[in-house]
Amino acid sequence: MNFCVIFFAYLFALTVNVQSYIIPREVLDSDGCARIHNEFITKKKTNFSYADVKDCYQRFPFDKDIASKTIDTLIGLVSGFYVFLDKAKEPPKPGFDFRPVDLKSELENFRDKSYSTLYDFTTDVKHLFYDLKDQHTMFGSYCFTTFVFYTNMTFYSVINNGEQKIKVFDDTIDQCNIDCEVTHIDGQQTLKVITEFARNSVYASRDLGVRFNIALDRAYKFPSFAVRSEIPEKPDITYTLKCDNKNPFDVKRNWNAFVQNVKDLNKFKDSKSYFDNICNPSEGGRPVSSFLEITIIPDNLNEIFEQDQSITKIKIINNFISFFKVQDFGIVKFYNEYPADRNGTMNMLPDVIQFKELANAGVKKVVLDFSDNIGGYIFTTYFISLLLFPNTFPSFDIDIRISKQMRLAITEQYKFLTSNNIYDIQSYVDAKTYANFTSAEDFIGNNVYERGGIKDNYSNKYVDGTNINPMRKIIQTYLTTPLPWKPEDFIILTNGLCGSSCALITEHAAEFSNVSTVAIGGFACNKLLSYSSFIGGTVVNATQTFNSLGELGLINNTLMHKPFPLTGMTSNYAMKEVYSKINPDEILDFTFKPADFRLFYDEKNVRNVSILWSQAAALIGSKSKIN
Ligand SMILES: *[C@@H]1O[C@H](CO)[C@@H](O)[C@H](O)[C@H]1NC(C)=O
Ligand SMILES: *[C@@H]1O[C@H](CO)[C@@H](O)[C@H](O)[C@H]1NC(C)=O
Ligand SMILES: *[C@@H]1O[C@H](CO)[C@@H](O)[C@H](O)[C@H]1NC(C)=O
Ligand SMILES: *[C@@H]1O[C@H](CO)[C@@H](O)[C@H](O)[C@H]1NC(C)=O
Ligand SMILES: *[C@@H]1O[C@H](CO)[C@@H](O)[C@H](O)[C@H]1NC(C)=O
Ligand SMILES: *[C@@H]1O[C@H](CO)[C@@H](O)[C@H](O)[C@H]1NC(C)=O
Ligand SMILES: *[C@@H]1O[C@H](CO)[C@@H](O)[C@H](O)[C@H]1NC(C)=O
Ligand SMILES: *[C@@H]1O[C@H](CO)[C@@H](O)[C@H](O)[C@H]1NC(C)=O
Ligand SMILES: *[C@@H]1O[C@H](CO)[C@@H](O)[C@H](O)[C@H]1NC(C)=O
Repeated sequence: MNFCVIFFAYLFALTVNVQSYIIPREVLDSDGCARIHNEFITKKKTNFSYADVKDCYQRFPFDKDIASKTIDTLIGLVSGFYVFLDKAKEPPKPGFDFRPVDLKSELENFRDKSYSTLYDFTTDVKHLFYDLKDQHTMFGSYCFTTFVFYTNMTFYSVINNGEQKIKVFDDTIDQCNIDCEVTHIDGQQTLKVITEFARNSVYASRDLGVRFNIALDRAYKFPSFAVRSEIPEKPDITYTLKCDNKNPFDVKRNWNAFVQNVKDLNKFKDSKSYFDNICNPSEGGRPVSSFLEITIIPDNLNEIFEQDQSITKIKIINNFISFFKVQDFGIVKFYNEYPADRNGTMNMLPDVIQFKELANAGVKKVVLDFSDNIGGYIFTTYFISLLLFPNTFPSFDIDIRISKQMRLAITEQYKFLTSNNIYDIQSYVDAKTYANFTSAEDFIGNNVYERGGIKDNYSNKYVDGTNINPMRKIIQTYLTTPLPWKPEDFIILTNGLCGSSCALITEHAAEFSNVSTVAIGGFACNKLLSYSSFIGGTVVNATQTFNSLGELGLINNTLMHKPFPLTGMTSNYAMKEVYSKINPDEILDFTFKPADFRLFYDEKNVRNVSILWSQAAALIGSKSKIN
């Protein structure tokens, strides 16, 4: 054994970094985090074995005190500020698939549970939030998002002769497998396996068909069947493939763990430093990326657009919005609602004003493609809605659940007017009269609604008032000739993963202007599929909550919760709710809104977006809606 240690030390000293031979052999043997560090330092690796990552994640024992404080914080946050606390207890409307969740009492139940590791506890609590099927309302920890598991194979779903099949979209290890049918996964029927995954492990939509799309999504914004953020149940997975008419055969793959952000590999050398710097970092040590997003597979959408001769590029604005022409129709691809420069609408104008160029190109019909768009700033939604539908008011009616905590926070903010405070209501006006609210009490009003069997106070309904008129003026100034299209000249195309600000734009177009919608993908056996998801009103996170309460001197107020016991933990939640314009008593998040038209992926359009766009464009002006 002694010889072995000397040999290793010698090898490390010769090859690379001095840092590495300070890791004693015993540590390497017993600590997955240390083995990961060692592989990174000695071999420059950025992907690691399932066993090492699993071991690293499971090195932190369950701690009753941490668990209990985590539950305290979450209960405080959701009872004080989560708008759907009561609504989430109601069973789903037909078309949706989720279970009613009594978040507060289910969180309380965790107090009696025991786990062996912090990973197991965190994952279990996270799954409770998954069950809400609301991307806006989540709990998680950066402790367990450093790596994602991947087998280098991705999938898509087609319908052949009425039968839904799963096929290999890409396999970077063996390209011969591409387009083969995946008949079984670990011996079980593939469609069943992926449907179960969509039901339980995908959270960004209340519509199971949309979750099925996300499970197979190749935009890789969220964990999918192919790219997992949680430790898979076992180290490998076996796909049974059927290629052309040949005999089926098995492909067994290991789950490899890829680091999401290489910088994180510099933050630890063993499990202790992993815990101190990633699970519970001091101020400023937190990763900048969202703890929900997946980053390992590059998004090559623009490459595809650039290379395709059938697509005329009018203007490509990276990672925001692009304008194309295909045949005689226009395409506007909205990637998100984050303009490159968020400094007000003036700076966004040069980007979105490109609609003018599309009009100059002479197109009579326009496909608005909002697939894989998970939102951005609300002012973008108002601006787009005003630009395309200038005769509408760009905001839905919105309100806030008024708990004791919320009442106090809004009242204090109304008094102190601190800047960037999430409890600020200054820019809101009454939804009916457009009059300013004259006091916090005037905003809060006296509206008791019963939801999920619970009576609670909600604020008066409001719209965002102050920003709208300046926006109208800017548009009138810079768009001297109005855009030539009427609502019936557009169609909205999505795969259902159009959330938050994206959903606000598409729902606004559909509800205020009767623009047609088409959804792609989902299940063949269900003809209805939502075109948007998790509309919310406003999403805020635990950090913003504490910062805003802090500015108001409410951080130690007995009504308010304490921060999470570990700084790597984070949570976000929907704080406001949006009402339907067409059915004013309905909250859009809980209203099943299937698209007017439906398309399915096939072997061609799944790889060639210009075919898909043509299919959508062909529906513009068509009357044969499915429902
Ligand atoms: C890294 O990934 C490649 C496949 O992409 C695999 O061959 C290799 O074994 C992986 N390394 C580890 C340590 O898992
Ligand atoms: C597997 O996928 C990863 C992540 O996209 C990539 O970096 C790696 O090169 C792939 N491995 C092989 C063998 O193709
Ligand atoms: C996509 O389809 C269109 C229409 O069939 C065709 O003109 C174009 O060449 C195709 N693009 C690619 C990259 O195959
Ligand atoms: C934002 O725009 C305003 C006026 O348009 C300007 O005064 C301000 O400096 C800009 N801020 C940044 C950060 O660019
Ligand atoms: C409403 O308040 C805004 C400032 O937030 C002010 O500019 C506006 O004049 C007020 N409107 C009325 C009708 O008082
Ligand atoms: C609503 O708020 C009022 C205070 O204005 C309070 O007295 C009442 O108990 C609240 N109702 C509910 C159902 O929480
Ligand atoms: C909405 O458009 C459809 C056809 O696209 C039409 O049948 C229907 O009457 C329109 N509804 C309203 C309220 O204009
Ligand atoms: C919370 O939200 C703010 C504002 O969107 C963002 O800058 C910050 O990174 C978020 N923090 C966490 C921990 O998610
Ligand atoms: C809140 O309480 C903590 C601990 O008692 C104290 O250190 C801190 O200064 C207090 N903060 C405020 C704003 O009162």
